[in-house]
Amino acid sequence: MGRADMLVLRTREELLRWRAAVPVGAPVAFVPTMGYLHEGHLALLRRGRTLAKDGALVLSIFVNPTQFGPHEDLDRYPRDEDGDLAKAASCGVDVAFCPTDRAALYPNGTLTWVEVEGLDQHLCGASRPGHFRGVCTVVAKLWGLVRPDFGLFGEKDYQQLAILRRMHADLNLVGAVVGLPIVREADGLAMSSRNTNLGPQARQDALAISRYLQAVRGRFAAGERSASALLADPAQALAPGRVDYASLVDADDLQPVETVTRPALVAVAAYFLSDPPGLTVRLIDNCVLRP
Ligand code: PAJ
Repeated sequence: MGRADMLVLRTREELLRWRAAVPVGAPVAFVPTMGYLHEGHLALLRRGRTLAKDGALVLSIFVNPTQFGPHEDLDRYPRDEDGDLAKAASCGVDVAFCPTDRAALYPNGTLTWVEVEGLDQHLCGASRPGHFRGVCTVVAKLWGLVRPDFGLFGEKDYQQLAILRRMHADLNLVGAVVGLPIVREADGLAMSSRNTNLGPQARQDALAISRYLQAVRGRFAAGERSASALLADPAQALAPGRVDYASLVDADDLQPVETVTRPALVAVAAYFLSDPPGLTVRLIDNCVLRP
């Protein structure tokens, strides 16, 4: 069912004015995204719609420049605002906050950064310096504008979710952080806005990621507990994809583990060829092993 009355807001001022008019006690659910919405995003929106009841569901679409490194894919990040707004309306979104430029969220530049120490040493934090600082800063800014009762995030970005949970607790932010499971394509590939940048061959090659995670789970189910034996040979398993990392870390503090004795996260990042070729697409995926 579409929502003909969905508001599209472009500035902080409009969003603040809207928020101030929300009746006290009406629940607000919030799903921050960078757009190019897929079923993973829509699952967050549908859950948000349920949590918000008769209150408000807010979506933000903002390709946040501060979380991209200088050689990353900021200018290649896919965009489709009209398509996104149609999908948002079909999920019952009340307000889509779609700032048109960087200044809408970073007026007068930015002097304040939000950084969560420790949880960003490994995985994406190690290979994308400054990435999580950009994520935390923009989510903190958005959280202050929306003041949600529920902020929803996907476990697809497991490290991001862990870091944001910690930021939320440490900064005494209002409301609660809600995490949702990874949504996959029928063939197992984790949904990602970046999948659209894969060439047809690379789209097939990328299935190696979920197949690899399946194989690790299989070894774990068979009783294997050693990290090196569980991870085996990721370079070979993910070829022709190029491995950024394949790691086993504690599911809570994200520190490397040698032997699985408590819940552990298997996390993978790998590069595949883009369409048109010549560039690469970095994909991530993960699963939790529970002894
Ligand atoms: P984006 O990649 O657009 O993702 C928005 C939200 O959707 C995140 O919480 C992400 O974990 C979730 N998501 C993405 N793919 C998913 C999938 N296959 N299954 C379940 N959830 C999925 O993550 C970001 O944007 C940004 O870093 C952001 C938090 C918006 C800050 O800029």
